[in-house]
Amino acid sequence: MSNSPTKIELTQPDDWHLHIRDGEVMKDVLADTARQFARAIIMPNLKPPVTTVDLAKAYQSRIEANLKLLGVTDFKPLMTLYLTDNTSADEVRKAKDAGIAAFKLYPAGATTNSDAGVSDLKHCYAAIEAMQAVGMPLLVHGEVTSADIDIFDREAVFIDTVLEPLRKQFPDLKIVFEHITTKQAAHYVRDAATAGKNTIAATITPQHLLMNRNAIFAGGIRPHNYCLPVLKREEHRVALLKAATSGNSRFFLGTDSAPHAKGTKEAACGCAGCYSAFNALGLYAEAFESVGKLDKLEGFASFFGPDFYSLPRNSKKITLAKQTQNIPMELPLGDATIVPLRAGETIAWSLV
Ligand code: DOR
Ligand code: ZN
Repeated sequence: MSNSPTKIELTQPDDWHLHIRDGEVMKDVLADTARQFARAIIMPNLKPPVTTVDLAKAYQSRIEANLKLLGVTDFKPLMTLYLTDNTSADEVRKAKDAGIAAFKLYPAGATTNSDAGVSDLKHCYAAIEAMQAVGMPLLVHGEVTSADIDIFDREAVFIDTVLEPLRKQFPDLKIVFEHITTKQAAHYVRDAATAGKNTIAATITPQHLLMNRNAIFAGGIRPHNYCLPVLKREEHRVALLKAATSGNSRFFLGTDSAPHAKGTKEAACGCAGCYSAFNALGLYAEAFESVGKLDKLEGFASFFGPDFYSLPRNSKKITLAKQTQNIPMELPLGDATIVPLRAGETIAWSLV
């Protein structure tokens, strides 16, 4: 493939990190994702969180009902469970048998709806032991939460104080370091010794490939560019882009598209989350094109995720064209509206 094409054909991608919420708003956000992706890892941080197989099955039924309303027949939600201090090894084995794709670790207090998250990983050792034994991936929100650690350092500190000890203790546990934001994380995942096993990977969001922390303060505070882990310095963006476009199968697509109604973002204490689902593939194409690496997009978007999760790659093809798309200022979100990433601006690539 030339690196300045105006059209690219890809195996249909999947989104390996997605928030679609529940109730009224789900249908609106699901439509955007299902237009582009074949499957998505559905995050369990609902209120209350999805902590058991039974809750996940009920959530899956609500998702399927919404897909039916949308007339979508070819999108598959991959369900996850929210790890707590009380998750039992039995629940892990039950989850494996029920086809649950993964467990998600939210350190308590790290982000949206993480209050029920893990206070100390030691409480979860029996559950994690069972995950390692049955090959159940653990997806981690990789930030420490103590107030005395600077918010821009929380990911790097997590690597040294939580992730590395966890990997030492459970060397065969499959871990996805979600939405990485720093060069420390990119290098850690790239260089991690795995004894030839497929035990570590990372997802990267479009916003962390395209923006640095200046975007949160460009001419005034920009709540729609605020997510967690927060955008970092330019040197980190550059390292993430290098990792994503390197062809290394440890890095794959996960948007972390996280819908919050406009009013809850534009507030004195605004919620964290960027809504990238509207044209996520266009955003990723732009990022890859910026370094002349569009030929590496298919591996990142369509191959490395299913390979890590031991799922089949998709067979359908999609086409992205270099066609400018205007991004609306707002989109419907149940009774409210949502401001998508790049609202009022353009994206250079669109799905045909
Ligand atoms: O910005 C974020 N929003 N980061 C997260 O980890 C959670 C997410 C959400 O659920 O809104
Ligand atoms: Zn997330």
